[in-house]
Amino acid sequence: MIDFNTIQRIIDTAEIVDVVQDFVNLKKRGVNYLGLCPFHNEKTPSFTVSPAKGIYKCFGCGKGGNPVNFIMEHEHLGYADALRYLAKKYHIEIVEKELSAEEIQQQNERDSLLVVTKFANSYFQEKLHKHTDGRAIGLSYFKERGFRDEIIDKFELGYSLDIRDAFTKAAIEKGYKLEFLEKAGFTIVNEQDKFDRFRGRVMFPIHSLSGNVIGFGGRVLKKDEKTAKYLNSPESEIYHKSKVLYGMFQAKTAITQSDKCYLVEGYTDVISMHQSGIENVVASSGTSLTVDQIRLIKRFTPNVTIIYDGDAAGIKASLRGIDLVLEQGMNVRVLLLPENEDPDSFAKAHSASELLAFIQKNEEDFITFKTRLLSKDTKNDPVKKANLISDIVHSISVIPDGIIRTVYIKECSTILGIDEKILYSETNKIRRRYADSESRRVTTPSDVYKVASPAVPSFVEGYYAEPQEREIIKLLLHYGNQVLYSYQEDKFDEPRHVKVAEYIIKEILNDDLEFKNLVYKQIFQEYLDGMSKDLLPESKQFIFHNDPQISKLAADLLSTTYTLSKIFKRKGALIENDELKLNQIVPETVVAYKRKILEIAQKDVSEKLHIAQENKISVEELNTIQKESMLITSAIIAISKDRGWVIIR
Ligand code: CTP
Ligand code: MN
Repeated sequence: MIDFNTIQRIIDTAEIVDVVQDFVNLKKRGVNYLGLCPFHNEKTPSFTVSPAKGIYKCFGCGKGGNPVNFIMEHEHLGYADALRYLAKKYHIEIVEKELSAEEIQQQNERDSLLVVTKFANSYFQEKLHKHTDGRAIGLSYFKERGFRDEIIDKFELGYSLDIRDAFTKAAIEKGYKLEFLEKAGFTIVNEQDKFDRFRGRVMFPIHSLSGNVIGFGGRVLKKDEKTAKYLNSPESEIYHKSKVLYGMFQAKTAITQSDKCYLVEGYTDVISMHQSGIENVVASSGTSLTVDQIRLIKRFTPNVTIIYDGDAAGIKASLRGIDLVLEQGMNVRVLLLPENEDPDSFAKAHSASELLAFIQKNEEDFITFKTRLLSKDTKNDPVKKANLISDIVHSISVIPDGIIRTVYIKECSTILGIDEKILYSETNKIRRRYADSESRRVTTPSDVYKVASPAVPSFVEGYYAEPQEREIIKLLLHYGNQVLYSYQEDKFDEPRHVKVAEYIIKEILNDDLEFKNLVYKQIFQEYLDGMSKDLLPESKQFIFHNDPQISKLAADLLSTTYTLSKIFKRKGALIENDELKLNQIVPETVVAYKRKILEIAQKDVSEKLHIAQENKISVEELNTIQKESMLITSAIIAISKDRGWVIIR
């Protein structure tokens, strides 16, 4: 945890223009600075930075905030990591708060693995560039494949020597513990012996979103069939294969900017496409896509194009998995490369503009692609055709957006020569069946959760609703660590538990809201810090907090048992189960806070409108105010209509 005074120092030092300028070309306009918004595509600049207020604001997309927000948004970092980034930029030494023995133990395991993995990464890179074998075998292999120096550096490629325990020895000599070498998957330990997992392989490090190396893929160089072409790090505390996409760290900015993500199969596909200038590419590393990976992409863009090798035998098998992507409401397109080409070879033989032109010309939406592909072998076979139809209808039925479903039904009706009405009724049948089984499955309160409450326009962030802020802090202190709901992504997965604090933090951050009461704000920040470390604070930490204002407040709020405030008493009376009560109270408290902020904003804006109408102001300014007023009103409507509970599968 970063110590409070350090946070304060970072916030005081970070200068908004200076921070933004590292990423955006800014020009001075009057008292402010203006540039092209890094968060959406635009040709005329509407991204404004105000050094006086210490904030940035885009009038195109609405994004705005302070230097920490900017780094969080731009670099896709959590709050604590964004602070660390700024601390590094301004050479501020981070004083981490003292942790309890238990916290240290938990943190140590993760950190130790990260440290070992980081060492391995620099070790493998050093061997590639400095060791005779590394240069003669590894580096020349990359060169032969056409990888240029700067791309080898960018992806931090390396080489593991073909010596039984070269790395293990070197690491132990440097003081790394065997325990962590084993847990991170570098060393295989048996009764008599210990030796390296990766030997005589070129190494592809896999980065987390924030740029830490968390695992490796190692490729053999010899063409013997005895050993797998790629060997990957095993699952560990830091590396969860199903949650990672190779190249995401290097691609995320390009994905945001182009609002598009290309999905390929392999390490070398990603690297070659980058080298040819297309950087919004990630790889699923040969496994079928998981929901977590799709969600990861969805954080940056809803638009995915999956690029298949021209000769991929596995396309049909992988089609099933794509229903998952459709289910997430993503726009999926597919590109089939010419026979005997993969993205790697294709990118090498073509320039970036040729490649992009080829993609634009040949990519097609997924349903059309699937329908055409499968209808090829159903020609005159009625049974096969019936199966195909039910297959396609199934894919369409998982798409959440009704309009998009309609478009696909039209399209498929033409391709398949089937009456639209039939496709409609089949789709609806499946959706109804789904809905039925869903409502039956929900038996315990923990199956129920609240989808994100409607968004609040970001310009309303300046308003202060003290009682509502306090209510949220009260919930955090009382129930922050309690599970709010649990769900299973898939019936084979372990259930995931979402705690009250996680829910609240996401709700507040998603809307760029910030507590105005500084004591509340600090408590919120400590929960946020805790969440980014996977270690939520306990309420007693606040009671014994070294900031007397915090400890006093915590004592105050925690001294009585939680009593439902007036708003909830009426509804609360209907509910017997404690857990369900929490399920209802937490989202409603968040919504109450947002509604209050919106109401204050609405008052403020209507005042502004009033004044504007009396004084002469430019049409532009008037437009801005009117637009704000409209946005606020529609947000209030949305939040008031909010039904509350949604049931998940
Ligand atoms: N893969 C794996 N283990 C294997 C084979 C493949 O983990 N035994 C994963 C790797 O992430 C690989 C991806 O599947 O990048 C795609 O496999 P493939 O197309 O065979 O590899 P390429 O990346 O094309 O590698 P290369 O061009 O070096 O053969
Ligand atoms: Mn390949």
